[in-house]
Amino acid sequence: MHYARWLEQIKQAPQSREVLREIMRHHASTRERLPILDSFYPTIFSELGEVHSVLDVACGLNPLAIPWMPLPKDATYHAFDIYADMMQFIGDYMRLTHIHGTAAPCDVLSAISNQRSAISTPVDVAFVLKTIPCLEQVDKAIGPKLLDILDARFIVVSFPIQSLGGKRSGRGRGMLEHYANHFADLISGKPWRTKRLEFESELVFIIRK
Ligand SMILES: C[S@@+](CC[C@H](N)C(=O)[O-])C[C@H]1O[C@@H](n2cnc3c(N)ncnc32)[C@H](O)[C@@H]1O
Repeated sequence: MHYARWLEQIKQAPQSREVLREIMRHHASTRERLPILDSFYPTIFSELGEVHSVLDVACGLNPLAIPWMPLPKDATYHAFDIYADMMQFIGDYMRLTHIHGTAAPCDVLSAISNQRSAISTPVDVAFVLKTIPCLEQVDKAIGPKLLDILDARFIVVSFPIQSLGGKRSGRGRGMLEHYANHFADLISGKPWRTKRLEFESELVFIIRK
């Protein structure tokens, strides 16, 4: 991670999506999303109605994709990840590009037991992108607790899926089914409406709370 150099590049060309794409290559989750980025957020946001506030849980470098999100200029974006240096970078990037909001280090696993933590800030949409499998390695029961504590009209949950040459391989198909079943378990017993969206490398569920 070359935060100082990246901030300099953003400062030189704050409107450049190419610069942001290059930086997003340095984190596996955003790198995998680059080929689908042009359709990913427009497709998701078309399901959400007007969005004025977003909370991005365990965000990694995903806030760099804000220019691809059809958000109004006055929208507020709250970004959290466990890494303080990454959140400092994201906060600096947001200031440089005049995005309203906050970027703060937050350990989701401890925040979950605190109803007043920043991750329960009321928002229109919460992103939980490719994060549940990662957190479950530490706490198997984290998924439903996280979905419960988020105070969002919509929660966008995603899982990574693999494909080979555009056609989903046996392994990719297996991951798709595995995560679809897992998501059904995570929300079982909840009165929430959900919508499933399938992208080449990511399986997305939109929860309407
Ligand atoms: C698979 S990546 C997903 C990143 C981003 N959501 C995306 O889709 O581009 C998982 C992220 O979770 C973060 N993370 C891992 N454990 C965490 C924790 N306990 N609290 C907050 N973030 C955590 C990692 O730093 C990493 O950025």
